[in-house]
Amino acid sequence: MLSLTNKRILLGITGGIAAYKCAELTRLLIKAGAEVRVGMTRAATEFITPLTMQALSGQRVHLDLLDSDAEAAMGHIELARWADLVLIAPATADFIARITLGQADDILSTMVLATSAKIAIAPAMNQAMWADDSTMTNLNVLIDRGYNIFGPAEGEQACGDVGPGRMMEPAQLLELSASLFETGELAGKNFVITGGPTQEAIDPVRFISNHSSGKMAYALAAEAVAAGAKVTLISGPVNLPTPESVKRIDVITAAQMLVATHEAMKGCDVFIGVAAVADYRPVEVATQKIKKSEEQMQLTLVKNPDIISEIAQLEEKPFVVGFAAETNDIVSNGKDKLKRKGLDMLFANNATETFNSDSIVVTALTETSETELKPGNKNVVARNMLQLIAAALNER
Ligand code: C5P
Repeated sequence: MLSLTNKRILLGITGGIAAYKCAELTRLLIKAGAEVRVGMTRAATEFITPLTMQALSGQRVHLDLLDSDAEAAMGHIELARWADLVLIAPATADFIARITLGQADDILSTMVLATSAKIAIAPAMNQAMWADDSTMTNLNVLIDRGYNIFGPAEGEQACGDVGPGRMMEPAQLLELSASLFETGELAGKNFVITGGPTQEAIDPVRFISNHSSGKMAYALAAEAVAAGAKVTLISGPVNLPTPESVKRIDVITAAQMLVATHEAMKGCDVFIGVAAVADYRPVEVATQKIKKSEEQMQLTLVKNPDIISEIAQLEEKPFVVGFAAETNDIVSNGKDKLKRKGLDMLFANNATETFNSDSIVVTALTETSETELKPGNKNVVARNMLQLIAAALNER
């Protein structure tokens, strides 16, 4: 049973169809031991009545900034101070945009601005609105500010579309809210993870790349967040959803990945280079599509920067973890790489089994140790990898 004993949750409901689920959410939060007070935007009251929310929470519902009766019971600043968690569910695209700007034009946005409690938002909107650049940009700003983003889930939407944008189910929101009060073994640690392949253009339509799926990096990012870390994921082109509360920066080339990685290094405690960075790139990128006139053609390639080695050489370097996908002599090649690149830890694995696969067999190497990890799916293995990293950080 999840515990929210004595936790004070301000549930902020904004105007989306998923607001009807807040009745169930309130019931579950109270059953888990939380004290719940409810604030609603005017639009939210079109979807669920304040009377319903008052009956379920046992408290007067806050609707207006300038409601003298409600303010007399508990003023908005007092309410913002009272909360251990401000949970905005559902959070509409408009509400997300308003809090990104720091507006305080209704009771809920004011509360978000005034509180020093944890803030979690459960987005709910049409899938195209969710995918829009504006929403994605706003979301990254909120993640940067340390907000927790719960969802959204994927599936059928009230408007008939199918895709990401559904509010998470109340039971999931309860679970994620409870997890915010657990301190994981990586609490307070900043992680930067690179993942996926890079693509190196030959001409406007062709590129050199590899089969990396990004699954390992994405599993590590999700599990690191679950263990309490703040995670920036610098991702090459992959077809994977961004794990919850992870700040994702999309890049295409090795050169872009290098720049993004350096930019993310401030305050970084652990850097994990999982990306399968293309070793070489064409010296020149043709500005027009190359015609296939000759029987043979030659491409001149130049070596790409070794991102992880550069990070390992920084004066203020984080704990640096690399991966080695090898096809033969996995452990001895891994040990060479650990030394040559100046890494603190390296996970060596079999490239032919790993790429694009859901499971992985790995050996963890440090200067003084060699540990075979239990085989399993990438999420389980990621958890074991993070345990080893956490243990190494504790020993430092
Ligand atoms: O490709 P290689 O076997 O050298 O990769 C080993 C490690 O180095 C991996 O962690 C990979 O992410 C990192 N790497 C990198 N930049 C490169 C090549 C590899 O960060 N250009």
